[in-house]
Amino acid sequence: MKQKEIYFDNNATTKPLPEVREEVLKVMGPEFGNPSSAHLTGARARKHISQAREQLAQLIGSDSSKIIFTGSGTEANNMAFYSCTRDQTNGCEILTTTIEHSSIQKMSNFLKLNGVSVKKLQVNSQGLINLEELKESINENTSLVSIQLVNNETGVIQPISEIGEICRELSVPLHTDAAQAVGKMEMNIQGMPIDFLSLTGHKFHSPQGVGAIYCKDKFLLAPMLFGGFQEEGFRPGTENVPGITGMGKAAEIRKNNLSELISKMKDLRDRFEAMLLDFVPGTKVNGDTKNRVCNTSNIMFSGIDGRRLVKELDQNGVRCSQSSACTNFEIAPSYVLRAMGLTEEEAYSSIRFSFSVENTYDEIDSVIEIIRKLTDELKN
Ligand SMILES: Cc1ncc(COP(=O)(O)O)c(C=O)c1O
Repeated sequence: MKQKEIYFDNNATTKPLPEVREEVLKVMGPEFGNPSSAHLTGARARKHISQAREQLAQLIGSDSSKIIFTGSGTEANNMAFYSCTRDQTNGCEILTTTIEHSSIQKMSNFLKLNGVSVKKLQVNSQGLINLEELKESINENTSLVSIQLVNNETGVIQPISEIGEICRELSVPLHTDAAQAVGKMEMNIQGMPIDFLSLTGHKFHSPQGVGAIYCKDKFLLAPMLFGGFQEEGFRPGTENVPGITGMGKAAEIRKNNLSELISKMKDLRDRFEAMLLDFVPGTKVNGDTKNRVCNTSNIMFSGIDGRRLVKELDQNGVRCSQSSACTNFEIAPSYVLRAMGLTEEEAYSSIRFSFSVENTYDEIDSVIEIIRKLTDELKN
Protein backbone atom coordinates (compact mmCIF):
# COMPACT_ATOMS: atom_id res chain seq x y z
CA MET A 1 0.00 0.00 0.00
CA LYS A 2 1.23 3.48 -0.87
CA GLN A 3 2.47 5.32 2.22
CA LYS A 4 0.41 8.35 3.22
CA GLU A 5 2.33 11.62 2.95
CA ILE A 6 1.89 14.09 5.77
CA TYR A 7 3.27 17.46 4.74
CA PHE A 8 4.36 19.61 7.68
CA ASP A 9 6.89 21.71 5.76
CA ASN A 10 4.69 24.55 4.59
CA ASN A 11 7.28 27.24 5.32
CA ALA A 12 9.35 25.64 2.55
CA THR A 13 6.47 25.74 0.11
CA THR A 14 2.73 25.10 -0.02
CA LYS A 15 0.60 23.11 -2.42
CA PRO A 16 -1.18 25.31 -4.99
CA LEU A 17 -4.93 25.31 -4.37
CA PRO A 18 -7.24 23.72 -6.99
CA GLU A 19 -8.81 27.14 -7.76
CA VAL A 20 -5.29 28.50 -8.32
CA ARG A 21 -4.41 25.67 -10.68
CA GLU A 22 -7.62 26.35 -12.58
CA GLU A 23 -6.72 30.04 -13.08
CA VAL A 24 -3.18 29.12 -14.12
CA LEU A 25 -4.48 26.64 -16.70
CA LYS A 26 -6.78 29.29 -18.13
CA VAL A 27 -3.94 31.70 -18.88
CA MET A 28 -1.79 28.83 -20.12
CA GLY A 29 -4.59 27.88 -22.49
CA PRO A 30 -7.56 29.76 -23.91
CA GLU A 31 -6.72 33.04 -22.16
CA PHE A 32 -3.03 33.18 -23.06
CA GLY A 33 -1.38 36.38 -24.22
CA ASN A 34 1.56 38.74 -23.92
CA PRO A 35 0.58 41.74 -21.79
CA SER A 36 2.81 43.97 -23.94
CA SER A 37 0.91 43.17 -27.17
CA ALA A 38 -1.18 46.05 -28.48
CA HIS A 39 -4.05 43.82 -29.69
CA LEU A 40 -6.96 42.40 -27.73
CA THR A 41 -5.17 39.18 -26.80
CA GLY A 42 -2.57 41.40 -25.11
CA ALA A 43 -5.29 43.42 -23.41
CA ARG A 44 -6.75 40.19 -22.01
CA ALA A 45 -3.37 39.25 -20.52
CA ARG A 46 -2.94 42.79 -19.11
CA LYS A 47 -6.30 42.41 -17.43
CA HIS A 48 -5.15 39.24 -15.66
CA ILE A 49 -2.06 41.04 -14.41
CA SER A 50 -3.93 44.07 -13.15
CA GLN A 51 -6.53 41.89 -11.45
CA ALA A 52 -3.76 39.96 -9.69
CA ARG A 53 -2.14 43.22 -8.57
CA GLU A 54 -5.46 44.29 -7.07
CA GLN A 55 -5.98 40.90 -5.36
CA LEU A 56 -2.50 41.02 -3.84
CA ALA A 57 -2.95 44.65 -2.79
CA GLN A 58 -6.13 43.66 -0.93
CA LEU A 59 -4.28 40.93 0.95
CA ILE A 60 -1.56 43.27 2.25
CA GLY A 61 -3.73 46.36 2.59
CA SER A 62 -1.89 48.36 -0.04
CA ASP A 63 -2.70 50.45 -3.05
CA SER A 64 -2.14 48.26 -6.12
CA SER A 65 0.00 50.95 -7.77
CA LYS A 66 2.68 50.32 -5.17
CA ILE A 67 3.24 46.66 -6.09
CA ILE A 68 5.88 45.43 -8.55
CA PHE A 69 5.85 41.73 -9.45
CA THR A 70 9.17 39.89 -9.28
CA GLY A 71 10.36 36.36 -9.97
CA SER A 72 10.64 35.44 -6.27
CA GLY A 73 10.95 36.68 -2.72
CA THR A 74 14.70 36.43 -3.17
CA GLU A 75 14.59 38.88 -6.05
CA ALA A 76 12.36 41.28 -4.11
CA ASN A 77 14.82 41.23 -1.18
CA ASN A 78 17.80 41.76 -3.49
CA MET A 79 15.99 44.64 -5.20
CA ALA A 80 15.38 46.56 -1.98
CA PHE A 81 19.07 46.27 -1.06
CA TYR A 82 20.21 47.20 -4.55
CA SER A 83 17.86 50.19 -4.72
CA CYS A 84 19.13 51.71 -1.51
CA THR A 85 22.83 51.29 -2.19
CA ARG A 86 23.32 51.75 -5.94
CA ASP A 87 24.10 55.49 -5.85
CA GLN A 88 26.28 55.48 -2.82
CA THR A 89 28.33 52.33 -2.64
CA ASN A 90 31.18 53.98 -0.79
CA GLY A 91 30.50 54.89 2.79
CA CYS A 92 26.90 53.77 3.00
CA GLU A 93 25.71 51.29 5.56
CA ILE A 94 22.97 48.69 5.76
CA LEU A 95 21.56 47.65 9.06
CA THR A 96 20.05 44.18 9.20
CA THR A 97 20.00 41.18 11.55
CA THR A 98 21.86 37.92 12.06
CA ILE A 99 18.73 35.83 11.41
CA GLU A 100 17.63 36.97 7.95
CA HIS A 101 16.96 34.60 5.06
CA SER A 102 19.93 33.63 2.87
CA SER A 103 18.75 36.02 0.11
CA ILE A 104 19.54 38.87 2.48
CA GLN A 105 22.65 37.35 4.03
CA LYS A 106 24.22 36.67 0.62
CA MET A 107 23.18 40.01 -0.89
CA SER A 108 24.77 41.69 2.15
CA ASN A 109 27.99 39.75 1.52
CA PHE A 110 27.96 40.82 -2.12
CA LEU A 111 27.43 44.49 -1.28
CA LYS A 112 30.18 44.31 1.33
CA LEU A 113 32.62 43.26 -1.41
CA ASN A 114 31.52 46.39 -3.26
CA GLY A 115 32.27 48.81 -0.42
CA VAL A 116 28.98 48.86 1.47
CA SER A 117 29.25 48.48 5.20
CA VAL A 118 26.84 45.96 6.73
CA LYS A 119 25.95 45.85 10.42
CA LYS A 120 23.94 42.96 11.82
CA LEU A 121 21.84 43.30 14.95
CA GLN A 122 21.89 40.34 17.33
CA VAL A 123 18.75 38.70 18.68
CA ASN A 124 17.99 37.51 22.22
CA SER A 125 17.21 33.93 23.24
CA GLN A 126 13.61 34.45 22.12
CA GLY A 127 14.72 35.51 18.63
CA LEU A 128 13.85 39.20 19.04
CA ILE A 129 16.04 42.21 18.24
CA ASN A 130 16.71 44.95 20.79
CA LEU A 131 15.02 48.22 19.82
CA GLU A 132 17.49 50.33 21.81
CA GLU A 133 20.37 48.72 19.94
CA LEU A 134 18.59 49.43 16.65
CA LYS A 135 18.19 53.09 17.56
CA GLU A 136 21.82 53.43 18.62
CA SER A 137 23.08 51.68 15.49
CA ILE A 138 21.44 54.01 12.96
CA ASN A 139 23.82 56.75 11.86
CA GLU A 140 24.14 59.33 9.08
CA ASN A 141 25.51 56.65 6.71
CA THR A 142 22.61 54.22 7.19
CA SER A 143 20.87 53.96 3.85
CA LEU A 144 18.57 51.04 4.67
CA VAL A 145 17.30 49.13 7.67
CA SER A 146 16.15 45.63 6.73
CA ILE A 147 14.47 43.50 9.37
CA GLN A 148 12.32 40.47 8.62
CA LEU A 149 8.73 40.44 9.76
CA VAL A 150 8.56 36.69 10.49
CA ASN A 151 11.43 34.28 10.82
CA ASN A 152 11.20 31.29 8.49
CA GLU A 153 12.58 28.80 11.04
CA THR A 154 10.96 29.86 14.32
CA GLY A 155 7.99 31.94 13.15
CA VAL A 156 9.01 34.72 15.59
CA ILE A 157 7.49 38.09 14.68
CA GLN A 158 9.64 41.21 15.05
CA PRO A 159 7.92 44.38 16.39
CA ILE A 160 7.84 45.96 12.94
CA SER A 161 5.65 48.96 13.80
CA GLU A 162 8.02 50.06 16.58
CA ILE A 163 10.99 49.40 14.28
CA GLY A 164 9.31 51.51 11.61
CA GLU A 165 8.67 54.37 14.05
CA ILE A 166 12.37 54.45 14.95
CA CYS A 167 13.33 54.48 11.26
CA ARG A 168 10.84 57.28 10.55
CA GLU A 169 12.13 59.35 13.44
CA LEU A 170 15.69 58.97 12.16
CA SER A 171 14.71 59.35 8.46
CA VAL A 172 16.00 55.98 7.28
CA PRO A 173 14.04 53.73 4.88
CA LEU A 174 12.81 50.41 6.28
CA HIS A 175 12.56 47.17 4.31
CA THR A 176 10.91 44.09 5.71
CA ASP A 177 11.09 40.55 4.35
CA ALA A 178 7.50 39.40 4.80
CA ALA A 179 7.79 36.14 2.85
CA GLN A 180 6.60 34.15 5.87
CA ALA A 181 4.07 36.72 7.04
CA VAL A 182 1.84 37.45 4.04
CA GLY A 183 -1.28 35.31 4.15
CA LYS A 184 -0.58 34.26 7.73
CA MET A 185 -1.13 37.61 9.47
CA GLU A 186 -3.64 40.41 9.11
CA MET A 187 -1.77 43.20 7.36
CA ASN A 188 -2.46 46.81 6.52
CA ILE A 189 0.79 48.00 5.01
CA GLN A 190 -0.63 51.36 3.97
CA GLY A 191 -0.90 52.42 7.59
CA MET A 192 2.49 51.08 8.61
CA PRO A 193 5.85 52.89 8.66
CA ILE A 194 7.37 50.51 6.10
CA ASP A 195 9.01 51.64 2.83
CA PHE A 196 9.63 48.26 1.15
CA LEU A 197 8.06 44.85 1.76
CA SER A 198 9.03 41.61 0.01
CA LEU A 199 6.73 38.66 -0.43
CA THR A 200 6.51 35.40 -2.33
CA GLY A 201 3.42 33.54 -3.53
CA HIS A 202 4.44 29.97 -2.89
CA LYS A 203 4.10 30.37 0.87
CA PHE A 204 0.35 30.89 0.49
CA HIS A 205 -0.65 28.25 -2.08
CA SER A 206 0.26 30.08 -5.28
CA PRO A 207 2.63 28.67 -7.92
CA GLN A 208 6.35 28.97 -7.25
CA GLY A 209 8.63 31.44 -9.02
CA VAL A 210 6.58 34.56 -8.44
CA GLY A 211 6.92 37.26 -5.82
CA ALA A 212 6.46 40.98 -5.38
CA ILE A 213 7.90 44.05 -3.78
CA TYR A 214 5.70 46.69 -2.22
CA CYS A 215 7.25 50.11 -2.39
CA LYS A 216 5.73 53.10 -0.61
CA ASP A 217 7.45 55.49 -3.00
CA LYS A 218 8.52 54.02 -6.33
CA PHE A 219 11.16 56.73 -6.73
CA LEU A 220 13.14 54.78 -4.13
CA LEU A 221 13.15 51.69 -6.34
CA ALA A 222 15.81 50.84 -8.96
CA PRO A 223 15.64 48.06 -11.57
CA MET A 224 18.25 45.30 -11.50
CA LEU A 225 17.36 44.19 -15.04
CA PHE A 226 17.20 46.24 -18.23
CA GLY A 227 14.88 45.74 -21.17
CA GLY A 228 11.25 46.54 -21.88
CA PHE A 229 8.71 48.58 -19.97
CA GLN A 230 7.08 45.68 -18.11
CA GLU A 231 6.29 46.60 -14.50
CA GLU A 232 6.97 50.24 -15.48
CA GLY A 233 10.52 49.27 -16.32
CA PHE A 234 11.26 48.30 -12.70
CA ARG A 235 11.17 44.62 -13.66
CA PRO A 236 11.60 44.25 -17.41
CA GLY A 237 11.06 40.91 -19.12
CA THR A 238 7.76 39.38 -20.26
CA GLU A 239 5.66 38.83 -17.18
CA ASN A 240 5.11 35.39 -15.69
CA VAL A 241 1.40 35.63 -16.45
CA PRO A 242 0.48 32.15 -15.13
CA GLY A 243 2.45 32.71 -11.91
CA ILE A 244 1.12 36.21 -11.33
CA THR A 245 -2.46 35.18 -12.09
CA GLY A 246 -2.14 32.19 -9.76
CA MET A 247 -0.67 34.34 -7.00
CA GLY A 248 -3.53 36.81 -7.40
CA LYS A 249 -6.10 34.04 -7.02
CA ALA A 250 -4.29 32.59 -4.00
CA ALA A 251 -4.21 36.08 -2.44
CA GLU A 252 -7.94 36.55 -3.04
CA ILE A 253 -8.78 33.22 -1.40
CA ARG A 254 -6.60 34.07 1.60
CA LYS A 255 -8.07 37.54 1.98
CA ASN A 256 -11.66 36.27 1.87
CA ASN A 257 -11.19 34.02 4.90
CA LEU A 258 -8.03 35.30 6.50
CA SER A 259 -9.00 35.36 10.18
CA GLU A 260 -10.66 31.93 9.93
CA LEU A 261 -7.60 30.44 8.18
CA ILE A 262 -5.20 31.96 10.71
CA SER A 263 -7.21 30.53 13.56
CA LYS A 264 -7.31 27.08 11.93
CA MET A 265 -3.53 27.01 11.46
CA LYS A 266 -3.00 28.22 15.01
CA ASP A 267 -5.30 25.52 16.41
CA LEU A 268 -3.40 22.82 14.50
CA ARG A 269 -0.03 24.16 15.67
CA ASP A 270 -1.14 24.58 19.28
CA ARG A 271 -2.60 21.08 19.42
CA PHE A 272 0.62 19.67 17.97
CA GLU A 273 2.76 21.48 20.54
CA ALA A 274 0.52 20.69 23.49
CA MET A 275 0.54 16.97 22.66
CA LEU A 276 4.24 16.90 21.90
CA LEU A 277 5.30 18.64 25.10
CA ASP A 278 2.96 16.36 27.07
CA PHE A 279 3.87 13.03 25.50
CA VAL A 280 7.48 13.38 24.38
CA PRO A 281 9.93 14.01 27.22
CA GLY A 282 12.75 16.50 26.64
CA THR A 283 10.91 18.63 24.09
CA LYS A 284 10.87 22.42 24.15
CA VAL A 285 9.62 25.16 21.80
CA ASN A 286 12.34 27.43 20.37
CA GLY A 287 11.55 31.13 20.06
CA ASP A 288 9.09 33.58 21.57
CA THR A 289 5.73 31.80 21.77
CA LYS A 290 3.87 35.09 22.42
CA ASN A 291 5.09 36.73 19.21
CA ARG A 292 4.82 33.97 16.67
CA VAL A 293 3.13 33.49 13.32
CA CYS A 294 0.18 31.07 13.46
CA ASN A 295 1.63 28.06 11.59
CA THR A 296 5.21 27.52 12.76
CA SER A 297 6.63 25.31 15.47
CA ASN A 298 10.35 24.89 16.05
CA ILE A 299 10.97 22.09 18.53
CA MET A 300 14.12 21.05 20.35
CA PHE A 301 14.27 17.29 21.04
CA SER A 302 16.91 17.21 23.78
CA GLY A 303 19.43 14.42 23.43
CA ILE A 304 18.27 13.45 19.93
CA ASP A 305 20.03 14.12 16.65
CA GLY A 306 17.42 16.10 14.71
CA ARG A 307 19.06 15.17 11.40
CA ARG A 308 18.33 11.51 12.04
CA LEU A 309 14.85 12.23 13.30
CA VAL A 310 14.01 14.25 10.15
CA LYS A 311 15.22 11.33 8.01
CA GLU A 312 13.27 8.76 10.01
CA LEU A 313 10.14 10.91 9.85
CA ASP A 314 10.59 11.15 6.09
CA GLN A 315 10.79 7.34 5.90
CA ASN A 316 7.49 7.27 7.77
CA GLY A 317 5.86 9.69 5.32
CA VAL A 318 6.20 12.83 7.46
CA ARG A 319 7.82 15.82 5.74
CA CYS A 320 9.46 18.46 7.93
CA SER A 321 12.88 20.05 8.02
CA GLN A 322 15.69 21.22 10.20
CA SER A 323 16.11 24.72 8.88
CA SER A 324 15.03 26.65 5.81
CA ALA A 325 14.77 24.96 2.40
CA CYS A 326 17.58 27.22 1.16
CA THR A 327 20.02 25.85 3.75
CA ASN A 328 18.81 22.22 4.03
CA PHE A 329 21.83 20.85 2.20
CA GLU A 330 24.42 22.84 4.13
CA ILE A 331 26.31 20.79 6.67
CA ALA A 332 25.96 23.28 9.47
CA PRO A 333 23.57 23.79 12.35
CA SER A 334 20.87 26.46 11.90
CA TYR A 335 22.44 29.93 12.09
CA VAL A 336 19.12 31.29 13.31
CA LEU A 337 19.05 29.01 16.35
CA ARG A 338 22.79 29.57 16.99
CA ALA A 339 22.15 33.35 16.91
CA MET A 340 19.49 32.80 19.59
CA GLY A 341 22.16 31.23 21.80
CA LEU A 342 21.46 27.52 21.29
CA THR A 343 24.54 25.31 21.37
CA GLU A 344 25.54 23.45 18.23
CA GLU A 345 24.08 20.25 19.70
CA GLU A 346 20.81 21.95 20.64
CA ALA A 347 20.51 23.46 17.17
CA TYR A 348 21.10 20.06 15.57
CA SER A 349 18.46 18.54 17.84
CA SER A 350 15.81 21.03 16.68
CA ILE A 351 13.21 20.55 13.93
CA ARG A 352 10.81 22.93 12.20
CA PHE A 353 7.21 21.84 11.65
CA SER A 354 5.07 24.23 9.62
CA PHE A 355 1.37 23.75 9.02
CA SER A 356 -1.12 24.84 6.40
CA VAL A 357 -4.89 25.03 6.22
CA GLU A 358 -4.83 21.73 4.38
CA ASN A 359 -3.50 19.83 7.40
CA THR A 360 -5.87 18.02 9.75
CA TYR A 361 -6.14 17.09 13.43
CA ASP A 362 -5.88 13.43 12.41
CA GLU A 363 -2.54 14.14 10.79
CA ILE A 364 -1.36 15.84 13.98
CA ASP A 365 -2.38 12.83 16.06
CA SER A 366 -0.66 10.38 13.68
CA VAL A 367 2.57 12.39 13.63
CA ILE A 368 2.65 12.61 17.43
CA GLU A 369 2.37 8.80 17.59
CA ILE A 370 5.17 8.40 15.02
CA ILE A 371 7.40 10.88 16.89
CA ARG A 372 6.78 9.08 20.20
CA LYS A 373 7.87 5.80 18.68
CA LEU A 374 10.89 7.22 16.85
CA THR A 375 12.20 9.29 19.77
CA ASP A 376 12.01 6.22 22.01
CA GLU A 377 14.08 4.26 19.48
CA LEU A 378 16.60 7.07 18.85
CA LYS A 379 17.20 7.56 22.56
CA ASN A 380 18.10 3.90 23.11
C1 LIG B 1 11.89 34.58 5.04
C2 LIG B 1 12.07 34.27 3.60
N1 LIG B 1 12.54 35.21 2.78
C3 LIG B 1 12.71 35.00 1.47
C4 LIG B 1 12.44 33.78 0.91
C5 LIG B 1 12.72 33.55 -0.54
O1 LIG B 1 11.58 33.43 -1.31
P1 LIG B 1 11.68 32.67 -2.72
O2 LIG B 1 11.69 31.22 -2.41
O3 LIG B 1 10.45 33.11 -3.44
O4 LIG B 1 12.92 33.15 -3.36
C6 LIG B 1 11.95 32.75 1.72
C7 LIG B 1 11.69 31.41 1.16
O5 LIG B 1 11.98 30.41 1.73
C8 LIG B 1 11.76 33.01 3.10
O6 LIG B 1 11.32 32.06 3.92
